[in-house]
Amino acid sequence: MSASSPTARPIAVVVLAAGKGTRMRSALPKVLHPIAGRPMLGHALAAAATLAPARAAVVVGHGAEAVGAVAEAALPGARICLQAQQKGTAHAVLAARAMLEGFAGDVVILYGDTPFIAPGTLARLVAARAGAAVAVLGFEAAEPGRYGRLVLGGDGMLDRIVEAKDATEDELAIRSCNSGVMAADAATLLRLLDRVDCDNAQGEYYLTDVVGLARAEGLACRAVLCDEVETMGVNDRVELARAEAIYQARARHEAMLAGATMTAPETVFLSWDTVLGRDVTIGPSVVFAPGVRVADGAEIRAFCHLEGAEVGEGAIVGPFARLRPGARIGAGAHVGNFVEIKNASLGDGAKANHLTYVGDASVGAGANLGAGTITCNYDGFDKHRTDIGAGAFIGVNAALIAPVSVGANAYVATGTVVTRDVPEDALAIARVPQENREGSGRRLRQTLKARKAARKDKPDRA
Ligand code: UD1
Ligand code: MG
Repeated sequence: MSASSPTARPIAVVVLAAGKGTRMRSALPKVLHPIAGRPMLGHALAAAATLAPARAAVVVGHGAEAVGAVAEAALPGARICLQAQQKGTAHAVLAARAMLEGFAGDVVILYGDTPFIAPGTLARLVAARAGAAVAVLGFEAAEPGRYGRLVLGGDGMLDRIVEAKDATEDELAIRSCNSGVMAADAATLLRLLDRVDCDNAQGEYYLTDVVGLARAEGLACRAVLCDEVETMGVNDRVELARAEAIYQARARHEAMLAGATMTAPETVFLSWDTVLGRDVTIGPSVVFAPGVRVADGAEIRAFCHLEGAEVGEGAIVGPFARLRPGARIGAGAHVGNFVEIKNASLGDGAKANHLTYVGDASVGAGANLGAGTITCNYDGFDKHRTDIGAGAFIGVNAALIAPVSVGANAYVATGTVVTRDVPEDALAIARVPQENREGSGRRLRQTLKARKAARKDKPDRA
């Protein structure tokens, strides 16, 4: 946990992620479904981390082990609190009671399935908390539907929150809705939570009830509004796809403003951690799976798929190239169509322009891999390495049977199957010598033609 600034009150975050997500109809817990290659929970925890919390807890229940593991990785130091039975959002926060007891500061409650809350919005919520016991993040809903409604008093202060299932007709007409995100003084919140009951339509302990309880004690509560897009929760796969689309639109927009050219941005898919340098050009239909960095001035042409790869300055990749995890493409290198690179480095200025597989290999600077070069890295049990020196020239359709090395500036003749190391500056050639038999071509043609004519029952298509 990082320490918050010395002037601000310390913050503890509690992220609720115990729910099942029934409507996802999935074996995977809802909060682990990815958006832009990262579990939803990871996005929520990244937002939480911007508060520089002194303490953090993630409340887990369904799929506790898997959810806890993702939480620990995304927010190191977070406590994983088990809520064995899901009895409501207030009950869920109390699963983190041990962390909140004796904490002199603010608690911010977030949901694991609401991944898009902006850091600035959280900061506004915390600022609003300073003037109230409880501050709630709300939004004006286009379709308020199932959301809890924010009931404001005549003074504009938040009076209570009513769940849709418990609301009157008049209350259902309210468009200001509860996002679920809340900030409160830790001691006050714990005290109020202990008084929440489950006397409501769903028989659940509602976190939202703390607002009414605070008001009954004469404490002030405030609502802070934000854009509906930020509070968008994901409950089913349709909403998951919508969340992905929203994320992608924003990520492309930011990438372009940061200096990347996209000729057809709506067809480019980015991951949460994609890093694009300045003057990078991305063609149509390019997919960046997680873990990709592209340096300044590089060009990724149409229909490429990249994952766990680094592309050096001014390199050209594609069209139709696949960079798999561990691909390191040097500055000014070229990777052309139908080339796959996996766990392999291509030195500066090296070229693999057509129909090539380079796996578990290092290719030196300026080397040239001809069309159809294949590193035979796998024997069915183990992977083996191929090392190709700087300036080496690998002829078309060469198979390099790993483990094997080709020295710097060596030549490998077209069609060669390389089974032994090739020394520096050597020429390796391993193919059957060619024989030309004078007139044999003509004789063969005549034989074949006669054979076909003899098959009387078949029409002659020659
Ligand atoms: C909740 C709010 C509602 C708000 C809406 C916004 C309450 C009572 N209602 O309703 O006002 O408009 O969110 O999306 O708080 N969870 C647990 N343990 C539980 C129950 C829930 O961890 O026992 C977690 C869920 O995994 C989820 C979050 O809390 O991340 C919200 O729970 P959910 O059941 O979706 O609440 P809503 O009915 O949507
Ligand atoms: Mg919900």
